Amino acid sequence: MRIDRFLQINTLYSRQTVRRLIAEQRVRVDSVTVSDPRYEITEFCRVELDAQLLQSTQARYYMLHKPPGVVSATEHAEHTTVLDLLAPPLREGLHIAGRLDLKTTGLLLLTNDGKWSRRITQPEEKVPKVYRVQTKDPVAPETAAVFARGIYFGYENITTSPAQLQLLDSHTARLTIYEGRYHQVKRMFGHLENEVVGLHRERMGGIVLDPGLQPGEYRPLSLAEIHAF
Ligand code: URA
Repeated sequence: MRIDRFLQINTLYSRQTVRRLIAEQRVRVDSVTVSDPRYEITEFCRVELDAQLLQSTQARYYMLHKPPGVVSATEHAEHTTVLDLLAPPLREGLHIAGRLDLKTTGLLLLTNDGKWSRRITQPEEKVPKVYRVQTKDPVAPETAAVFARGIYFGYENITTSPAQLQLLDSHTARLTIYEGRYHQVKRMFGHLENEVVGLHRERMGGIVLDPGLQPGEYRPLSLAEIHAF
């Protein structure tokens, strides 16, 4: 948003007054005086007018090792949510960047930065998501080729992007997909009439689940991890 618009909304000064305040060098963004009313700010810029602090929201990013039986939602009537696993002062304003099903375990990302989470979750961005999959029946020999061609999902009327399958043993595989459609991995195996009995997310783009995190534990992302998208 432009700084003049932000000031109009947040101070209720007229457009003319806002322009004057900016021209008088009374507005600072991230500790630097702004002189252009068209200057673009984000929700995470610190904005001051004279000595008055108008905005100072910190962008926050966490990885959490999701345990089974915890729901990927911010509120739920029956189940513990992933937000319940965080210390109460940290929960405010966070949302999930790419949900996991109730029984699925592994890497879950939480943030208050909507632009960042959209870069991870929007199918057009083609961010790789890597899962370890356990199946009820042996993984059929044609599975890798079928997944590499893509599978048609009638409900969404899309064909999944080419996915890579690496067989780890007869009933276990590592699967890399590039979208995050509803129950995507289960539906892909379902297409070959095999049932997923265990699912664990190991990686999203450049962010790998920290092996030091036990199920239910979390930590802030490093700068390098935040910038991995
Ligand atoms: N695909 C699924 O089917 N479930 C998940 O939790 C994640 C991907």
